[in-house]
Amino acid sequence: MATTIVIANRKGGSGKTTTSVNMAAGLAKRGRRVLVVDVDSQAQATTSCGIIPAQQTISVYELLQGVAAGQSMSTGLRKTIIKNGHPFDLLPSRADLSALEIEVSHHDNAQFLLRDLLLIVDNDYDYILIDSAPSLGLITVNSLVAAQQLIIPVEANFLSMDGLAQMIQILYRINLELNPDLRLLGIVPVKCDLRTNLARSVLDEIKKNFGADKLLPPVRNDIKLAEAPSFGQTISEYAPACRGAKDYDALSAAVLRKGGDNHGGK
Ligand SMILES: Nc1ncnc2c1ncn2[C@@H]1O[C@H](COP(=O)(O)OP(=O)(O)OP(=O)(O)O)[C@@H](O)[C@H]1O
Ligand SMILES: [Mg+2]
Repeated sequence: MATTIVIANRKGGSGKTTTSVNMAAGLAKRGRRVLVVDVDSQAQATTSCGIIPAQQTISVYELLQGVAAGQSMSTGLRKTIIKNGHPFDLLPSRADLSALEIEVSHHDNAQFLLRDLLLIVDNDYDYILIDSAPSLGLITVNSLVAAQQLIIPVEANFLSMDGLAQMIQILYRINLELNPDLRLLGIVPVKCDLRTNLARSVLDEIKKNFGADKLLPPVRNDIKLAEAPSFGQTISEYAPACRGAKDYDALSAAVLRKGGDNHGGK
C-alpha cells in the first residue's frame, strides 16, 4: 500500500512543485517506488519533468472525468503514467484541468475522484506525491482527501505565516468533514537565507506554534533550484553538488524517518 503525501499551500509560489519533484527524486534514490501526481492546471510538475503538457493526449483531467462518469480507469491510468528517464513516474496534468471543477461539482462523489483514481495504483508505488494547486478549489480538496500525510512548504517570511495558519485550519476541516486520516507530516521552510534573523525567527515561530517535530529540514535559497526545471531536470540531475540538492536530499531522508516509512528500499 502506497503512502500518499500531498504537498499543499494556498499561497502561490511557496515551493510546492519544487518540493514535489525534488523530494520524489530523493525518495526514489533511496529505492522507493514513487509517483508524482500533477493536479495543478499550471502543469508545472509536468513541465519540470521535461514533459510538454499540451502534447499529452490524456492527462489527469480525462482520468478524473472518467472516474466521475463511473468508468473503470485502470487501463487508462496505467497508459497515462509516464516513465520518462527520471527515477520516478509522473501522472501529467494539462491546462484544461481547470474546467473539471465546474464539470463535476454536482457529482455526489466530487471530492473523492482523485482518491478513487489513485487506489488503482496503490500497490504499484511506495510513495505517491501530489503536487497541488495554489487555491482551495475542488481539485485541491480532492488532493487533501486522497492523502494520508500533508507537507506544507512555506517561504521563510512573516507574511507566509498567515497562510500557514490558514492551511492548518483547512487541515482540521478536512479531518472533520472528509478525510479523518490526513495528518500533518511537517512544514518545510523554503527559499531560506539562514544567515538572516528573519529566517531564524520564522523557524523559531514554526517550532513554537506547531512543535519542533513538525519542522522539517529547511531548503535554502538556491538559484539552481529555479534553473533546473527549464532543463526538465531534478536538482540532483542538474547540479548534484549544490546546496539545493543537499537540502532536498536531507528533506527526503527526514520524510522517510518522520513519516514512519515501512517500504524498505535499498
Ligand atoms: N529554495 C529555492 N531557491 C530558489 N528558488 C526557488 C526555491 N524553491 C522554489 N524556487 C523558485 O520559486 C518559484 C516558485 O516555486 P514553485 O513553483 O515550486 O512554487 P509553487 O508553490 O509550486 O507555485 P504555485 O503556487 O504557482 O504552484 C519557482 O520559480 C521556483 O523555481
Ligand atoms: Mg506549483
